[in-house]
Amino acid sequence: MTVAHAAEDGLRFPDSLVFRGYAAPVRIEGDVYDLEVIGRIPEGLNGAYVRASADHAYPPLHGKDIFLNGDGMIHLLRFENGHADLKTRYVQTEKLKRERAARRALFGHYRNPFTDDPSVAGVDSNTANTSVLWHGGRLFALKEAALPMQLDPRTLETLGPWNFNGKLTGRTFTAHPKIDPKTGELIAFSYNTSGQASKEIDLHWISPDGELVRQETFEAPYPSMVHDCLVSPNYIAFTICPMLCDWERVKRGEPYFVWDPSLPVMVAVIPRKEGVKGIRWFRSPIIGMETHTINAWEDGSVLHLDHFFTRSGWLSQFPHASDPDAHELPPFAERWSVDLASADDSVSIERLNEQVGEMPVIDPRYLGQKTRRFFFGTANPALGPMLDWGPKGPPFTCLCRADLETGELDYYYAGPDSSPEEPLFVPKSADAPENDGWLICVVGRRAENRTDVVILDACDLAAGPVATIRLPCRIHEGFHGTWLPPQAVGL
Ligand SMILES: [Fe+2]
Repeated sequence: MTVAHAAEDGLRFPDSLVFRGYAAPVRIEGDVYDLEVIGRIPEGLNGAYVRASADHAYPPLHGKDIFLNGDGMIHLLRFENGHADLKTRYVQTEKLKRERAARRALFGHYRNPFTDDPSVAGVDSNTANTSVLWHGGRLFALKEAALPMQLDPRTLETLGPWNFNGKLTGRTFTAHPKIDPKTGELIAFSYNTSGQASKEIDLHWISPDGELVRQETFEAPYPSMVHDCLVSPNYIAFTICPMLCDWERVKRGEPYFVWDPSLPVMVAVIPRKEGVKGIRWFRSPIIGMETHTINAWEDGSVLHLDHFFTRSGWLSQFPHASDPDAHELPPFAERWSVDLASADDSVSIERLNEQVGEMPVIDPRYLGQKTRRFFFGTANPALGPMLDWGPKGPPFTCLCRADLETGELDYYYAGPDSSPEEPLFVPKSADAPENDGWLICVVGRRAENRTDVVILDACDLAAGPVATIRLPCRIHEGFHGTWLPPQAVGL
């Protein structure tokens, strides 16, 4: 018997930041019932925390990859009367099915079809790994490069791609749609809707019961990554940043995005009622990149747009167009304000505090309204040492609540070798005041190669968790999550 590749390993992941240590693929689909709980899960916290992660099922086709390109693994933590159960399942994308059949990676670099194995030419490359959405009684896994993938919220079984009964005409849908808490309407968008670079961005108005009732298209100044949006009661806003999608580069097998700071940063403001014919463009005085949005709100004719913004591109993931030595700079929370009563196109910018951060959340009942507080991941060297650089940058060591009235910052330090991820805010009751809720957060216990989930009182982060749910294993670092009401998970 001959062994074809005796000198080579079998299936093996690269020894690199994306695939090593706490970032290593987990790949385990399973259930753990009755997790260990230190402290008490708050009474009345019934439902489920569900979130998306990128967990490579196979070593990358071309030997290296960015963490954004992992396969969508969904983590669901179900809370029932003080007990917690964990469920982890891959989204059964066409990509995963094809690769499992071949027992190897077939798709190449992030969103670049010119780097795929010829056997999957034209096949949907959706990884469904970025976020989850609960709207209109349906659960979806979202990736901005593809259609939503519908999941069964009780089993996490994949039900298939969802195009809103044929009304979503493109092939893409944002991972950051916004639910108007007052009306239940979902505002969403799609860019590069054919998969290729395009200046056109589709806007979607989706009714509270999940029907796509209106779709319009506007043109951005250049084709770029449009990851997030801002929604107030009367407006939809986008910060268009020069993370350029240059199709000629993509065709040459280069990364899907390239940072081109020679292009302007432009803010689009679109009236929700009037639609794209009422669009106004404002020009930012600075060049950089919006990473994630916090909230938008209106004060008379002034529209305030709060978001995290970095003076560099996202250079740890995508290269600079002309300067290979350029370094990624950290993001800060900023308030960008535009006056819709004024004829000029200026944007005023105010830094909200001096704390580097990202992955912000607010009390979702106040989306579009002036909020006093927001929560975000950060590191505070006064509380504990920084952690080693990971595939997304330096991991957070703390969660922080920023009070925009007093300027106070309230920190939860997660402990040595521990990395909190994006938190989730769940109100203590439907009519609890703003900020009166629970903050649920996955925390990496990196030295143990294990994961906890902590529940904090959002009014007092420094007090530490009211409950720590100890998982017996590691789950992969994730991106964004949401809360499922009790009835969604059979409670
Ligand atoms: Fe995101």
